[in-house]
Amino acid sequence: MIVIDCENEALKKSIFEFFRMKLPKNYKDIDLHLKIKVLDEFIFLEIVGNKINKSVKLDIKNDKAHFVLKRYLFDLFSSYKDFDSSFGILTGVRPLKLVSKVFERNSYEESRKILFDKYRINKIEADFLYRIYKNQEKLRENSNLNNYNVYVHIPFCPSRCLYCSFDTTIGNKIKMDAYTKNLLDDIKSYELNFSKKPNSIYIGGGTPTAIGKENLEKIIDVVLEKFGSSREFTVECGRIDSLSVEVLEMLKRKGVNRISLNPQSFNEDVISKLNRVSNENFSYWFYKAREIGFDVINMDLIMGLPGESKESILKSIKKAIDFSPENITLHSLALKNGSKLFENSYFNEEDYSDLIEESKKLMLDSNYEPYYLYRQKKSVISSENIGYAKKGCSSIYNIVMMEELENIIGFGLGASTKILDSQGKFKRNINSKNLEDFIKRR
Ligand SMILES: C[S@@+](CC[C@H](N)C(=O)[O-])C[C@H]1O[C@@H](n2cnc3c(N)ncnc32)[C@H](O)[C@@H]1O
Ligand code: SF4
Repeated sequence: MIVIDCENEALKKSIFEFFRMKLPKNYKDIDLHLKIKVLDEFIFLEIVGNKINKSVKLDIKNDKAHFVLKRYLFDLFSSYKDFDSSFGILTGVRPLKLVSKVFERNSYEESRKILFDKYRINKIEADFLYRIYKNQEKLRENSNLNNYNVYVHIPFCPSRCLYCSFDTTIGNKIKMDAYTKNLLDDIKSYELNFSKKPNSIYIGGGTPTAIGKENLEKIIDVVLEKFGSSREFTVECGRIDSLSVEVLEMLKRKGVNRISLNPQSFNEDVISKLNRVSNENFSYWFYKAREIGFDVINMDLIMGLPGESKESILKSIKKAIDFSPENITLHSLALKNGSKLFENSYFNEEDYSDLIEESKKLMLDSNYEPYYLYRQKKSVISSENIGYAKKGCSSIYNIVMMEELENIIGFGLGASTKILDSQGKFKRNINSKNLEDFIKRR
């Protein structure tokens, strides 16, 4: 067991999280006792257990205490079996938020050195992050803290996929109608403090197309009435069993110009065990969407699903590339509370070594550029989820949301609103996640 004595609760939590992420397979079996005392200029660290017995005084200089400590611990444990050195000492969801500041202020060569010295990020990772940063550069330049983006959340799905931990539910008409009614009221009554149109609109979920054509059309009409059109308008259509030609035509008519059709895996043996729709008709819906005129289609894939080998994952990625969608998002399976797989203590023993590197190579060789990255905890292969795009097809919403470059106004269950306050800091407000409360309101 790892025991940490530290008066600062946030620091204690952050150090524990560091061990959990860096030694995911064995942090539970390690016996360590850490005593941490932080003063103005120094940290006193005593660490005993696992053949270690050290007392050190670490100089904080102009750094943050948690970085200083994590650097020391990284160097001490990096030779341990199964130590995950990815992203060095950074454990957050958005590594590029910090790293981009280094790229902004320094030459490429200097940045690499700083990233290693300060965060222990190795050269290969620094190069990949730099590539993403460069792919975001145009958007970053045009990005403006007076811009805003609109997110609308639809928490319904045709069935509950076994790996999913999101707060979604299988919709029935009464609930979906009631949800729509309250959502429309929220959007209409929102006090808008921006005079211009949004930079992007994103209707996500869940599966927005599962709420029914009439409801979805009403939602879109009210969004457009309230905010006006935007240059990027995404509606997630993830599950092909939620689609009809009429829905796709309606979306096109309303100006939606980016949709998502998600196979997750093209291995039918794998998909058939996930309480999810088969991909047998996937290509019908993909080409139907093209025929109707959607120029930007995203496909989500998950690596590491039960029964999926490294070879079959690479095969799915190749198949996705063969469709030539403008965006492909590669996720690593995360085992989180709330998913059936987690509840059933699913454990994956497949050998996925080098899969992430090979998937990256495959995407780059096929002219897909990484344009945003976020990390998830409890992933079975790697913490990173990466959005790839063909040249000129990066999603505005995904970048500004992930890098916190612009204001976001969120509607619906669990949606978060982030608005810059007068001090230049984002003020975050998250809607309740309780569907019954949302529906019963008013
Ligand atoms: C919020 S989900 C909505 C997508 C849509 N309902 C669908 O299933 O096609 C967004 C994406 O997150 C990914 N995802 C969901 N659960 C995941 C998990 N446990 N681990 C990794 N990725 C996951 C999937 O690729 C999914 O398409
Ligand atoms: S993966 Fe998508 S369709 Fe499946 S339950 Fe989660 S949000 Fe719904």
